[in-house]
Amino acid sequence: MDPFSTVIRTASHEQHTEAETSTFMSDLLGGRLGVDAYARYTEQLWFVYRALEEGAAALKDGPVAGPFIQPELLRVAELERDLSHLRGAGWQASATPLPATAAYAARVAECAQEWPGGYVAHHYTRYLGDLSGGQIIRGKAEQTWGFARKGDGVRFYVFEGISNPAAFKRGYRELLDGLGEVVPDELERQRIVDECKRAFALNTGVFRELGEEFPLSA
Ligand code: HEM
Repeated sequence: MDPFSTVIRTASHEQHTEAETSTFMSDLLGGRLGVDAYARYTEQLWFVYRALEEGAAALKDGPVAGPFIQPELLRVAELERDLSHLRGAGWQASATPLPATAAYAARVAECAQEWPGGYVAHHYTRYLGDLSGGQIIRGKAEQTWGFARKGDGVRFYVFEGISNPAAFKRGYRELLDGLGEVVPDELERQRIVDECKRAFALNTGVFRELGEEFPLSA
């Protein structure tokens, strides 16, 4: 039997490529979008991470999701700092979720309340991604819009409490592998994998709507 970290990674590989090569992400990484598009994207992340991190408190002592909830991952404060920089004080009053973002955040909140295994799928999809491809996005954002290296505007991508991301990711994958014991039911583990695919699809949905809001050649 493959370790669960391999199962979940392999199962979501195709959708990872789809998210990575979405029009919005390609345009963002290609330096073709204005800083307003980046700000709007960051604002969408704020809604998603609020759901992820508000839901975490209730799960932190549980056997399934508890081990994944680690303070050095928390991102809401960083997103708020970035948004103050990008949008100015008072940004909160005008922040609105796109319909796809509202649906994504609602699903995260639902999992946080009712299904720790599903919450782990969402946790993995976002935080392990931020520790990986997120670093590529940070570099591009600094280069394209002139943010200070690891400074305001890109703090979301900077994990001050994680000095060795590769080691952290290894530890995280060990936690995923440990789910084999904590969640012995094969069918339940399959449901978690399916929820991970759903998490990727929810991200792609947000990119689609962002792409519609920021078309390149309208
Ligand atoms: C253009 C955008 C993206 C780029 C360039 C990118 C790039 C990468 C790279 C290079 C890795 C491998 C790192 C490693 O093996 O340690 C990775 C892993 C990952 N990415 Fe992305 N990614 C992007 C978007 C996304 C999105 C939108 C999501 C989901 C919301 C995501 C979720 C993940 C996850 C969960 C992993 C960990 C896979 C694993 O090892 O289990 N990525 N990404």
